[in-house]
Amino acid sequence: MSQLSKADIYLDTNRQISPISPLVFSGFAEHMGRCIYEGIYDPQSPHADERGLRSDVLAVLQELNFRSMRYPGGNFLSGYRWLDGVGPRDQRPRRRDLAWKSIETNQFGTNEFIEFCKTINAEPMLAANMGTGTIQDAANLIEYCNAPVGTQFADLRASHGYQEPHGVKYWCLGNEMDGPWQIGHLDAVEYGKKAREAAQMMRWHDSSVQLILCGSSHSEMPTYPEWDRVALELCWEQVNYHSMHYYAGNWDGDTSSYLALSAELEEFVDTLTGVLRYVKAKRRSTHDVYLSWDEWNVWYKDRSGDGQWTEAPHLSEEVYNLEDALVVAQWLNVFLRKSDVVKIACLAQIVNVISPILTTRDALLKHATYYPLLLFSRLAAGVALDVNVIGPTYQTKKFGDMPLLDVSSSYDAANNTQAIFIVNRSQTERLPVELHWQDCTPKSISAAHQLSGTDPKAFNSFENPNRVVATQIAAPALDGQSALLELPPLSFTVIEVML
Ligand code: AHR
Repeated sequence: MSQLSKADIYLDTNRQISPISPLVFSGFAEHMGRCIYEGIYDPQSPHADERGLRSDVLAVLQELNFRSMRYPGGNFLSGYRWLDGVGPRDQRPRRRDLAWKSIETNQFGTNEFIEFCKTINAEPMLAANMGTGTIQDAANLIEYCNAPVGTQFADLRASHGYQEPHGVKYWCLGNEMDGPWQIGHLDAVEYGKKAREAAQMMRWHDSSVQLILCGSSHSEMPTYPEWDRVALELCWEQVNYHSMHYYAGNWDGDTSSYLALSAELEEFVDTLTGVLRYVKAKRRSTHDVYLSWDEWNVWYKDRSGDGQWTEAPHLSEEVYNLEDALVVAQWLNVFLRKSDVVKIACLAQIVNVISPILTTRDALLKHATYYPLLLFSRLAAGVALDVNVIGPTYQTKKFGDMPLLDVSSSYDAANNTQAIFIVNRSQTERLPVELHWQDCTPKSISAAHQLSGTDPKAFNSFENPNRVVATQIAAPALDGQSALLELPPLSFTVIEVML
């Protein structure tokens, strides 16, 4: 650890990075395991509403305020026939889902998803199957969703009870098509050409749609970042966003490095930003493409993906502990620090499968990661500030010398509020921290919240649901343009300020 015994955080509302896109607080719901069935839709649960949706799950999703929801996959997407999931339920086929070796009943499909999004006030983000699906299937789906009645697929929608178009704005052009595990996997040129032609047809149906190209599934893919360059060069003018996926884990039991993971996450963004700039320049384009981090989360303890040909199997029901929550908090810090280029981010996933909430038929548990998600979603608004942090560092095996603190801040000029998000990565040290407001004297520190603990492996369970929770703590006293606080080890602290 370096010699400094205290950290200083310098804040200036004039030092702005970019407006924070509300869509970075989005989610992802896939037909996988118990995300849709038994998670969102469970007619047999005592909590089911008249549509079969779990009202307790809906309430928590509303608390988390996901601004957009990506659906229906994921790997599932690449074998999905969307027509299976619309129309009278008793006529929908049961299918073998090859992605997760599960039985898909199709009792939940596009229209149920739209209803679900309306209920939780999230913008739907649908996806066209670029694996087994044709560009004609993609065009038919967008006609079904967005065209006024009068032609075959729009009329089909009307016959299913939806006279008015759904007006779905965000569309993914496939999922992880760079991955050999993907049904109908393509190489970058094949994918780029197919995505470009699908995009053309989709736009001819509805010129207002925003399209998301498949980027690399992980920064360790052998084709990264060449895949991204090739696909973007083929599709640049047709798309608005380029996707990135990443799942993190403390695979080696090296908590010091794991807690410094934001270094790797930022490098991933920086590399793709470089690719975006290169392709824009090469094409002499005035058009911009932004990043959509549309799958992100910790996922390494339960990687089960074989449903043994059953309905709603228990797959990848990851249990999140304190160190995972501190990684999630840093990931959200990265979204703020990279707000100039990361405009969409979808937590994968939202219930049961690699998710902050877990259900049984009649109960619901909030994992440790629920708390940073809640605090960011509630409090990060306006613009992201370029915060300057001077403080102690520590040694990590993976990233060398790293700062003990990981910090971001938002400033909402409309309401004169600010939020400061601070992770203390130390596993042992309490750290005195001084906040300095360089361009103003705040009116007050209105609240402070903290998630912390002594055991990085502590987790919540149905027996002990409140072991890792964020609580409101005493707000630090303001002394003119500064305030002193002391951060416990292994902690995430949020300071709310009235400016
Ligand atoms: O979210 C789980 C899976 O992870 C998705 O289906 C796939 O896109 C990714 O590999």
